Amino acid sequence: MMRVLGIETSCDETAASIVERDDASGRATILSNIVRSQLDEHAPYGGVVPELAARAHVSHLDHIIARAAETAGMRLGDVDAIAATAGPGLIGGVLVGLTTAKALAAALGKPLIAVNHLEAHALTARLTDGLAFPYLMLLVSGGHSQFVLVRGVGDYERWGTTIDDALGEAFDKVAKLLGLGVPGGPEVEKMALRGDPRRFNFPRPLLKEDRLDFSFSGLKTAVRLAAEQLAPLTDQDVADISASFQRTVAEIVATRARSALAKYATELPGQPLRLVVAGGVAANQAIGAALREAANAAGATLIIPPIPLCTDNGAMVAWAGAERLALGADDPLSFSAKARWPLDSDDMGLDHAA
Ligand code: KG4
Ligand code: ZN
Repeated sequence: MMRVLGIETSCDETAASIVERDDASGRATILSNIVRSQLDEHAPYGGVVPELAARAHVSHLDHIIARAAETAGMRLGDVDAIAATAGPGLIGGVLVGLTTAKALAAALGKPLIAVNHLEAHALTARLTDGLAFPYLMLLVSGGHSQFVLVRGVGDYERWGTTIDDALGEAFDKVAKLLGLGVPGGPEVEKMALRGDPRRFNFPRPLLKEDRLDFSFSGLKTAVRLAAEQLAPLTDQDVADISASFQRTVAEIVATRARSALAKYATELPGQPLRLVVAGGVAANQAIGAALREAANAAGATLIIPPIPLCTDNGAMVAWAGAERLALGADDPLSFSAKARWPLDSDDMGLDHAA
């Protein structure tokens, strides 16, 4: 049995978790998973303020870690390694979590595992569903929108990304211009339930091009123009714009998923077709339904892990740490926090893990 503490502080969640991995079967058990969201702190500013986020992580992280240990019924000294998100993300927050992890690793004499946040999202389906490699991942969060072929731990190939806004960011910006609350995604989804998804025909940037990239900024501008033309907006206008925007992005994401699955079938013949969704936008029911349809049409299995494990959390970091620890990872205490750290870069620190 291997037990790993995971620390996540790269955005606006302060999170810690202890996950147990069975050495023989590779099966996972989440012993604790404590998440403190900073939504209230950032709400007055309509978005995450990096300096405030870093300060809130400083204020709360120690307590969150203590609760993670207590809930797991363990002392910190009993874990086998300390894992923390080392990037990409808001650098102040990443530094808080990584430095805390380094201090714990040094004090307790345990290995430090510096985890790539995107890798943690990418490996979550193995934590929740014991999924075997390879599989295709669609990461759709506030900071990222990308297709990644996951071949193994440390072995990733990015097939497409956004050339401007992330999908969650597009939801948040649309919510803001419609005067809805934060976080924007769930608010837009709620309004969309009462709206007419066909009232507006918004553009689908890039969709005619034969590539797996996304672009959402032109769509967001079209939404803003429609809203300005109608102003002042009635509740029904807001609901209709929300529903039409959501339908459009669901169609965009599903179209791209169909192409990505076709590429997967061509490049990995004979491998089961599996599409895993990660990131906060995975909570969106309309997008989930569109992806399910696309997956069914392609004969693929769609996996959407439980939403608390799709959004930022410590368990995914602990799990990524456990997967890497099992392959012998042990990062130096000099490991630097990284604001940017692409998943398919050469410095995933895993030369030995094919
Ligand atoms: O993965 P996440 O918790 O944080 C990171 O960005 O890393 O994702 C948060 C994003 C926000 O942009 C939020 O608006 C979006 O996910 N989101 C949603 C929904 N729930 C969260 N977007 C659309 N529909 C939802 N139901
Ligand atoms: Zn994330």
